Amino acid sequence: MLSEKDFIVSSYSSIDYAAFECSAPSNIALVKYWGKKENQIPANPSISFTLNNCKTITKVNFTKKKSKNDFLFDLLFEGKPKEDFKPKILKFFQRIETYCPYLKEYHIVIDTQNTFPHSSGIASSASGMAALAMNVMSLEKEINSNLTDDLFYKKASFLARLGSGSACRSIKGEVVAWGKNESIAESSDLFGVEFNNINENFNNYQDTILLVDKGEKQVSSTVGHELMFGHPYAEKRFEQAHDNLAKITKILLEGNIEEFIKIVESEALTLHAMMMTSMPYFILMKPNTLEIINKIWKFRNETNIPVCFTLDAGANVHILYPENVSVKVLQFIKDELVAFCQNGHYICDQIGNGAESK
Ligand code: DP6
Repeated sequence: MLSEKDFIVSSYSSIDYAAFECSAPSNIALVKYWGKKENQIPANPSISFTLNNCKTITKVNFTKKKSKNDFLFDLLFEGKPKEDFKPKILKFFQRIETYCPYLKEYHIVIDTQNTFPHSSGIASSASGMAALAMNVMSLEKEINSNLTDDLFYKKASFLARLGSGSACRSIKGEVVAWGKNESIAESSDLFGVEFNNINENFNNYQDTILLVDKGEKQVSSTVGHELMFGHPYAEKRFEQAHDNLAKITKILLEGNIEEFIKIVESEALTLHAMMMTSMPYFILMKPNTLEIINKIWKFRNETNIPVCFTLDAGANVHILYPENVSVKVLQFIKDELVAFCQNGHYICDQIGNGAESK
């Protein structure tokens, strides 16, 4: 079992210049991470589908500099300098410094873009931090020939976690679990692990993301996680997440979509119930979120088509369904749900394989 100290690089060489390009997708949790301890350790295990189309593509170049005292980096977003992203990146570099001491030796230029609109309300922190972590690991591979492929990906996930918890689930695909739990022997609080051999019923599982509200969230995930401290239902919720993880791993192996739907929708509503019952309390769903949920339930009852929803920390709705019903579901979305999307916008995605380096 790997521990934190196994991620500290012990010896490495030095190079004058290196440039990389890596991409990482977003992911959608089936069992939700909500609540964390010190150092980005999750309060409960979570499991997600890695997405395919919603990605961050990041180019990074590293140029050797004279002083090793401070981090020096520039940040470009869609080709233009973006000062307001810098504090988050600096915090990330500071958090990973112990594990990547070589970073201070370089002037780092980060050039990043998303395949989805920035103001879509889709969290870019998971794909963004995962893509950046992959670039850091690409440099590490160049200066440490002892790095194995296995450790490369585990450490990429480990670093991504320190940037944003859910980002550790965006390195691999198609299903990734994060957080020590009894159902997955190799699971860890430190990084995400692939959950393999999922049933063919989940092949190419579809996720259509309905953009209900593209505005900034009133409450960030980071604040939301903190509110699980001293939350009256926290312990029960963490226990429930363990139970749901045990159930859903079995379901993913056996292919029972009816049972899948029950866990996934219950998890989404529980996440939002935790928000509504924290102090201070808050609501991230919008009236149109509820309209869409009710329409999905009605459609499912009437047609028996196994379509369900999940939510992340916002108003947007992820619609999950098997590929073989996609024509009917997309028609339903166009006929009945687009009206509830901001400017009629939605994004078609599906389960994918994780981060890539060019
Ligand atoms: C509701 O990973 O964004 O999407 O670790 O503070 O960066 P930080 O939080 P973040 O939280 C994601 C919460 C969630 C559920 C999930 O993805 O599991």
